[in-house]
Amino acid sequence: MNYEEKLQNVSVLGAAGKMGSGILLLTAVEMADLQLKPENRTKSFILNAIDVSPVALSGLYGYLKTQVKKNAEKKVVQLRQVYKDNPDLIENSDIIEQYVDDVMKVVLFSTRVESTYESNLIFEAIVEDSDIKVKIFSQILENNKKNPWFLTNTSSVPISELDSRSGLKGNILGFHFYNPPAVQKLVELITTKNTNKELIEFSKIYAKNLNKKLVPSNDFAGFIGNGHFMRDLLFGIKKVEELAKEMSFVEAVYAVNRVSQDFLIRPMGIFQLMDYVGVDVCQKILQVMQLRLKDENLHSSLIDKLINQGIKGGQNSDGSQKSGILLYSKGKPVAIYDPKKKDYDHIETFRSSIDVKLGKLPTSHKPWKDVIANKQRDEFLKSYFKELASLNTFGSNLAKEYHISSKNIGLNLVKDGIADNDDNFNTVMLTGFFHAYGPINNFLD
Ligand SMILES: NC(=O)c1ccc[n+]([C@@H]2O[C@H](COP(=O)([O-])OP(=O)(O)OC[C@H]3O[C@@H](n4cnc5c(N)ncnc54)[C@H](O)[C@@H]3O)[C@@H](O)[C@H]2O)c1
Repeated sequence: MNYEEKLQNVSVLGAAGKMGSGILLLTAVEMADLQLKPENRTKSFILNAIDVSPVALSGLYGYLKTQVKKNAEKKVVQLRQVYKDNPDLIENSDIIEQYVDDVMKVVLFSTRVESTYESNLIFEAIVEDSDIKVKIFSQILENNKKNPWFLTNTSSVPISELDSRSGLKGNILGFHFYNPPAVQKLVELITTKNTNKELIEFSKIYAKNLNKKLVPSNDFAGFIGNGHFMRDLLFGIKKVEELAKEMSFVEAVYAVNRVSQDFLIRPMGIFQLMDYVGVDVCQKILQVMQLRLKDENLHSSLIDKLINQGIKGGQNSDGSQKSGILLYSKGKPVAIYDPKKKDYDHIETFRSSIDVKLGKLPTSHKPWKDVIANKQRDEFLKSYFKELASLNTFGSNLAKEYHISSKNIGLNLVKDGIADNDDNFNTVMLTGFFHAYGPINNFLD
């Protein structure tokens, strides 16, 4: 079966979730574009959008339609060519409407796993729980006689484990999109020595057609991206625990969050990133990693405490940030949660005193947005870190420590064979986490 034939019957499991909805959108567009080729017009292309939540599925319909329309608006010139034989489509709006109809016709919404039984290809983006994933894979395998291929979006569960527990015989790989899949260019590709070579080839073509950047990660719990993020977050939490001996807990969170964002020129501070990904998602990933990496302490009692008190972060359906350890107003953190008080403290009440304690940013400092737009980014970063190294303030020392820890996490991921080389690790940080620089660098040597 070639690439196009494989894509004639596809399912997305967890289609109404954060990741599943993006995977559905990208795949629906790819499949409709194939169907609209003159030689494919008589063939059927079916994409099952499957989710256990009927309410979420009805919201998904509206989301998909809006996003496909946006996609059509961007490529209307190309679509005019696709529909050149249809004399009824005159205005751009006619073409856009027709394309939205054609994409939506490909998608069938369902709450039933049985809809996967005719699929050649199954994208899985359900909850991060290996037992549930194994159960659903095994059920499909038993009932689907087409020997389907599985592309799982798991953030942390080793693929070899899902493969052997579900009896998939190498017909599964990790195709780890970043959030949101429709926007983020990076996909971590996780294969094992047993992975079906044709499935690997298929994934490479699919990624290329979706204009994604594939970085291979070896099959260890957490892979490259979360392998760094989780340990970087645990380092931030450890620093908070240390600082909380000399200042309040919320002040310590503010200090570490600010240092990891401003002093290190990252797109967001470490606690904002935890909220963005979801405190509950971080807890699940840490649990998966801890179970499989027993020699390392990958547990955080702070995260458990937050979850027990209902502090989860994540996004609302309109994309806005839900409150987590930080409370947001217009997308900006304005207060910090104190688990002892079970309430938020406003940042304005302590911002200036902690800023004085941290000390000034290096005089050459520029915000992350300016740095990523800077054509001489490397030159700038070298001199910025040189100045940072020369300072002996509370903030600069914490930033140096943070940077070295992040670099060491990267070096260990390479040493332990999770990333093949420094470049692959740095690419994940640059492309998947939008860092302005790869942490494995010589800026502070
Ligand atoms: N959120 C992220 O930033 C992110 C990034 C990369 C990978 N991931 C991974 O992607 C997967 C999905 O994460 P998410 O954040 O989109 O979760 P989510 O909770 O937003 O979505 C999961 C969806 O799956 C549905 N679901 C649950 N069980 C199901 C079942 N048995 N059959 C069909 N649908 C079912 C739920 O109703 C929900 O809509 C997880 O494995 C996660 O680790 C998440």
